[in-house]
Amino acid sequence: MSSLAIIGGSGFSKLSGLVIQDAHPVETPYGATSAPVTRGTLNGNAVLFLPRHGAGHHLPPHLINYRANLWALRYCGAERVVGLAAVGGIAPRFGPTVLAIPDQIIDYTYGREHTFYDGTSDGVAHVDVTSPYCKELRGALLDACARTNQAVVSGGTYGATQGPRLETTAEIRRCERDGCDMVGMTGMPEAGLARELGLCYASFAFVVNWAAGKTDGIITMQEIEDNIAGCSERIMAVLTELVTY
Ligand code: HPA
Repeated sequence: MSSLAIIGGSGFSKLSGLVIQDAHPVETPYGATSAPVTRGTLNGNAVLFLPRHGAGHHLPPHLINYRANLWALRYCGAERVVGLAAVGGIAPRFGPTVLAIPDQIIDYTYGREHTFYDGTSDGVAHVDVTSPYCKELRGALLDACARTNQAVVSGGTYGATQGPRLETTAEIRRCERDGCDMVGMTGMPEAGLARELGLCYASFAFVVNWAAGKTDGIITMQEIEDNIAGCSERIMAVLTELVTY
């Protein structure tokens, strides 16, 4: 199988179990990546790793250099990219600690560098994103979940919001009317840029809170951290299986 990269999201600035071979800063035409690209192995199988928010989680979602990150991963040999994604749950089946492999996405972000085809060196192109996630990699993730006995929801629409603040109740109601099942802040432009580069990209989402207005209370960082902790072992089990493909 083609070489795999993992983009770590919230709670995954490091990958437990990753045996690091080396980590190199990559110079890109788009500037600096969030962190050096790490080459390593998971249970003996090669993988590339890049923490989206930086090694110390210092980059907020709207300031991540998504173009540099994806360009660097491809430059380092990645053909398949899994983006880990902490999300808030909107639809009833996406409660806290649920794992999900979304199949659609709506982009509510703004002001981010979201294309390689910005009219400069690469001219203009309009890539197809009818199915924004790579079918083969979604299938491989679902298969890895099955083989490791991890319950997972297959499909669902990810709403990508701007952040870094969480949403209002009315914003989540709008997302819900639009058909979003879950909400996160980094799914776009990552998925679109991956498609522009011809990378096979899929999102591995995990629910860390009910979205705004879905409970009587407010959303706390403590509940988000607790739910990340409640997902991380299962996520690592799935990824460790996935890298064998
Ligand atoms: N909204 C947006 N992004 C998120 C959320 C949320 O509720 N939880 C985790 N990432």
